[in-house]
Amino acid sequence: MVKALFINGSPRKNFNTAQLLQRAMEGASDAGAEVEMVNLYDRNLNYKGCMSCFACKVKGGKKGVCSFPDDLKSVMERAVEADVLVCGSPVYCGYPTAGLRAFMERLIFPAVNYSDFGRPVVVKTKRSATIFTMNCPDEEMYRANNYHILMDTTARQLGMFGPTEILYSFDTYQFNDYSRYDAAMLPEESKAHVRETQFPQDLQKAYELGKRLATDAKQG
Ligand SMILES: Cc1cc2nc3c(=O)[nH]c(=O)nc-3n(C[C@H](O)[C@H](O)[C@H](O)COP(=O)(O)O)c2cc1C
Repeated sequence: MVKALFINGSPRKNFNTAQLLQRAMEGASDAGAEVEMVNLYDRNLNYKGCMSCFACKVKGGKKGVCSFPDDLKSVMERAVEADVLVCGSPVYCGYPTAGLRAFMERLIFPAVNYSDFGRPVVVKTKRSATIFTMNCPDEEMYRANNYHILMDTTARQLGMFGPTEILYSFDTYQFNDYSRYDAAMLPEESKAHVRETQFPQDLQKAYELGKRLATDAKQG
């Protein structure tokens, strides 16, 4: 059975990023995959980025997976064994969240082959995607802010493991109640409009993404 893992790099378990990942997970499930969501900011998940232990480079040692003994160890094992991997993150100060970047260090570095840079250590070829959510209103501004470099560079690293793609959700609704916050640059009316018109389309795209990746993975 196809195994599909969804990694939520947002501290919020029910907001924009999580909702899009949830829809992608439903798509994968409808395509027959065994699905799982991991919330990186769960209080029970204490971890850091790569600790430079080099266990993944030791001669004769276990290759291709981070075996640093902390709460992320079993997540890393499931991530390398997954047939489908979908990561999600809000844009934080121009980058994916620290939590997702730490996860990515732990995923990518063991795949870097110090004996042959051209042949990464891939435990299992996988279909993957990254979902980014942000206040940024559209693709034009995304490029103007250099997010296509700062964000997409991280996302495209998943291409080491097989075909990968990126889904963007712009101009997200950030607060439950805008009246409580100093946010004159983010007028609630236009945010609410985007939430009612664009966000449902993004959710649908996420569903189709999850379904497509799981279907492709099944076909091999
Ligand atoms: C610490 C922090 C930094 C942020 N930085 C940016 C940013 O640089 N660019 C942007 O477009 N949005 C930025 N945002 C907005 C979030 O990316 C956006 O609201 C996102 O959809 C939140 O995801 P969530 O609802 O899953 O938590 C930032 C939000 C926070 C909390």
